[in-house]
Amino acid sequence: MRFIESDFTIPEIPKQLVAQIRISASAPSNIALVKYWGKQGLQLPMNPSVSFTLNRSKTLTTADLTALNKASKQVLFKFYFDQKHYPDFEPKIAGFFKNIQKFAPFVTAYQWQIYSHNTFPHSGGIASSASGFAALAKIVVDLEKQLYPQQTEEYYNKKVSFLARLGSGSATRSMASPVMIWGTHPQIKNTSDLYAVLPNFDVHPVFSNFRDSIVLVEKGQKKVSSTAGHNLMTKHPYKDIRKQQAFEHTLQMLQYLKTGDVENFIKLTEAEALGLHALMMTSDPDYILMQPDTLKIILTIRQIRHQTGLPVCFTLDAGANVHVLYPENIVNEIEEKLFSKIYYDVIHDYV
Ligand code: DP6
Repeated sequence: MRFIESDFTIPEIPKQLVAQIRISASAPSNIALVKYWGKQGLQLPMNPSVSFTLNRSKTLTTADLTALNKASKQVLFKFYFDQKHYPDFEPKIAGFFKNIQKFAPFVTAYQWQIYSHNTFPHSGGIASSASGFAALAKIVVDLEKQLYPQQTEEYYNKKVSFLARLGSGSATRSMASPVMIWGTHPQIKNTSDLYAVLPNFDVHPVFSNFRDSIVLVEKGQKKVSSTAGHNLMTKHPYKDIRKQQAFEHTLQMLQYLKTGDVENFIKLTEAEALGLHALMMTSDPDYILMQPDTLKIILTIRQIRHQTGLPVCFTLDAGANVHVLYPENIVNEIEEKLFSKIYYDVIHDYV
């Protein structure tokens, strides 16, 4: 079933609130194969995207909620990361709470203490906001379930994805395994700009044991936030052509995932990664997020592939780190030919 915004709207705060409640949830990370780059309205994507869900890199979050005597205008909360108060992340969480008020007004009726932990190094520059907002969205919908117990499983899943989007676009895809599609595509049934969905076919088994090993060329805070990058797409000279391309790439990528066409999967995944960075390099202002070693690693991956025929490829997000994608059965070869020869930390994840 396709939900619309009004299906998720809740007009008022229920009268009966639980005084004190603790809710925990966890959510996976994801890496986009077809990239979301550019948005409109309230966190709506310019084009559809497709991602692998990464099950090892998770965020685990617990919220301690205390009912207030009177609902507050803005949500009162404090965010702790690995037991330490982490104010740097609070503005983005405040934005999330503001965006979701129409859809979960009861969040203002509580005081929130939020404790979060990642199963991967936070400074690693991998999409911690995606798993983080997805976990928080689950907590909100779990709370909603306590107040409105009649919700269906389908509603639950879609509402989590819908709310997560209002924290960070890519968080909308941090849901089920192995692949998620986000964004309305006229040729793909049930797709929506509002939330992500699973494909309506089984992903070919060659992709079920895929690895994503992230080479941390650069640790720490991103130099240009994704949000700033998305905004530059509004006036980008290649906007229209990129949009059209992403719609085509989405169809092609899903076809390759369905049929197990690894060769074309590799070609398209790399084209999307390079295309994303090409958009950044041709925006105004332009910016270059790749480091010299990003390029070196990319070229080494291609060299390994050409010399040995091993099905290994790369993708990139909005940063210098390289995501190395390959099936599990060649893990030893990739270790020997690539990881043992570089000096950066590598985080191993899998689909
Ligand atoms: C390059 O989801 O981080 O990783 O919606 O502003 O929070 P906001 O942006 P974000 O953008 C991710 C961009 C990307 C591509 C992708 O994940 O599809």
